[in-house]
Amino acid sequence: MLPLWLAGKVFRAQARGPSKRIDLLSSTVSGTPPAHPEGEIKRRDFLFLAAGALTVVGAATAAWPFIDQMNPDKQTIALGVPIDVDVSGIEAGQQIIVAWRDRPVFILHRTPENLKTLKEPQVVNDLRDPDSKQMQQPPYAANWHRSINPDYLVVVGICTHLGCIPHLTKAGAAELGASWQGGYFCPCHGSKYDLSARVFEGVPAPLNLPVPPYHFVDPKTVRIGANPKGSNWSFNAIEQI
Ligand code: FES
Repeated sequence: MLPLWLAGKVFRAQARGPSKRIDLLSSTVSGTPPAHPEGEIKRRDFLFLAAGALTVVGAATAAWPFIDQMNPDKQTIALGVPIDVDVSGIEAGQQIIVAWRDRPVFILHRTPENLKTLKEPQVVNDLRDPDSKQMQQPPYAANWHRSINPDYLVVVGICTHLGCIPHLTKAGAAELGASWQGGYFCPCHGSKYDLSARVFEGVPAPLNLPVPPYHFVDPKTVRIGANPKGSNWSFNAIEQI
């Protein structure tokens, strides 16, 4: 049973060349598990969860090994084989979660309003590492939006405190107060990250969420696990997951 059911979309990974291709299959939005018989879930080639638009998700926080449930390519994925993800179906303001190396990876399609918050002094001044100086991302994502294409944030969704999965949480969410501009909230111990997954001061998590190696194969396809041409950055170089 999957311990974390965010609003969801189900994807399938299909072998294609040296990487795996992820295609959108359906888009149901629910705070509870989709009405699939349990066996059906297990038969799927691969399973992905997707958080809905910047909405507060009601699911309980889960230890990240929920990916263990995502058979059958666990071993292959654990080896770090790159995966291709079609991001064309992610609407602005929405996020999907895919698995890479047995880890959840958030892909958030940011809106212009989301991007604006990343430069607002009331956000930036409260961040621990606003300029991405600590090695939590490849050099090509060490910028104010922590990405290659500002429209898409790609980060490993594991809280740098003790490893829970932070929730994408909308601006003004009741539990975070009116000044909250949107970002990630880890309810395990209250760590907060902005919409670039930069951690705020005064929370238990010490570091920004890590950015994996990735690049755009074409405007609608992200390849996670492989650097852009010319970069040999290693994910092992990051300080902490
Ligand atoms: S694991 Fe996220 S705040 Fe502790």
